[in-house]
Amino acid sequence: MSKLWGGRFTKETDHLVEQFTASISFDQKLALEDIEGSLAHVQMLGECQIIKPEEAELIKKGLQSIKTKIEEGEIEYLVEHEDIHMNIEKMLIDEIGPVGGKLHTGRSRNDQVATDMHLYVRRKTKEMIKLIQNAQKALLKQAKDNMEAIMPGYTHLQRAQPIRFSHHILAYFWMLERDRQRFEDSLKRTNWLPLGAGALAGTTFNIKRERTAELLGFDQVYPNSLDAVSDRDFMVEFLANAALLITHISRLSEELIIWSSQEFQFIELDDAFCTGSSIMPQKKNPDVPELLRGKTGRVYGNLVSLLTVLKGLPLAYNKDMQEDKEGVFDTVDTLEGSLMLLAPMIETMGINKDKMFASVSQDYSNATDIADYLVTKGLPFREAHEIIGKIVLYAIQKNQFLLELSISEFKSFSTLFEEDIYTVLDPKNVVEARNSTGGTSLYQVYHQVGLAEAILEKE
Ligand code: ARG
Repeated sequence: MSKLWGGRFTKETDHLVEQFTASISFDQKLALEDIEGSLAHVQMLGECQIIKPEEAELIKKGLQSIKTKIEEGEIEYLVEHEDIHMNIEKMLIDEIGPVGGKLHTGRSRNDQVATDMHLYVRRKTKEMIKLIQNAQKALLKQAKDNMEAIMPGYTHLQRAQPIRFSHHILAYFWMLERDRQRFEDSLKRTNWLPLGAGALAGTTFNIKRERTAELLGFDQVYPNSLDAVSDRDFMVEFLANAALLITHISRLSEELIIWSSQEFQFIELDDAFCTGSSIMPQKKNPDVPELLRGKTGRVYGNLVSLLTVLKGLPLAYNKDMQEDKEGVFDTVDTLEGSLMLLAPMIETMGINKDKMFASVSQDYSNATDIADYLVTKGLPFREAHEIIGKIVLYAIQKNQFLLELSISEFKSFSTLFEEDIYTVLDPKNVVEARNSTGGTSLYQVYHQVGLAEAILEKE
């Protein structure tokens, strides 16, 4: 079949080469972006009298009709036409005749493909921001519904200090908030238009790039045509933001898996988000958080893959760059799917407050508070720490918790102890005492909820 670029060639392309170099199998995802970019380009060409206004109108009509066919799924893409850009151009020429060949005036596939990806990443970044907000809403709701629940807080996965469950779950709200802000921020750099850079050096036609940018809603055009066609930073940023986002989703998933184990029983995931075992009838497996955790690998892979493609490339366009798309598409699909499940899974999970509280009542996580108690009575913290260490060891050897020791036992370690030590050691008071900014007391967590609500309301 004759190629749009066939003029210089005397031989047909090798069949395997055609297959190997074609990108239509995946870049057909960009069909609507490609048409959007072309519509703006041709409008500008008409306004600048580079082609006749009536030719521009004809081309626009042709593009609109192709767009309708694409939306209705009536299009067959051909490997012979290599990629989405040439498939659509060929369709246009078939649809409206040789005048369709004027569309490509003053542009190249190099600035065209870059434009398509800017449009795509811009659209998907905005969607990602919305999906993150939905997950944030679900986290905030769980926090607000369970303000009273107290659970063990961990370091090294060892019981450390009691905390509010709401405080723990809100930590993820803030991680997602930074993820959202990162996407908002990269959106600014994604919103530069490469179109009009030509193949690499600009074009001999008297085009108005700023007009195309205005038509497509870009903040500015790339000031350097070489940079415009070579830049994939905006895609790397998207992938990096996604990698950090899925890191947070994965850490949360890991906790949900642990918390729903028989050993913890802090939460129960809704049946709709779990699956059973083909052999063990009692099983209810947390497949969804496990997969969310497992998806991290491919998202990191896509980031490293694109960075590696780019690292040794001379300016400007190189065919290597065709390898930039599939990882981005895969990351978009993965994150969209993940976030769409994350929000309802969080929203529907049940919290076992009694089990959480029973756990904090049966450990030594109030030990710091006895140390702080002695400090308020004038003892240097280091000395207090030493004494409490001995008390904890003594209690462990007696198989008792700190609240179970008698006042005379306490006094045998330090005469500074009084009856009020029992109030201090109550897990509820232990939590309430941490009233410093960002702490786990009810007052502080309510304050945090207020900040979180204000952020979501702004959107
Ligand atoms: N399919 C190509 C890509 O995705 C489009 C750009 C082709 N440009 C070129 N000079 N061969 O990168």
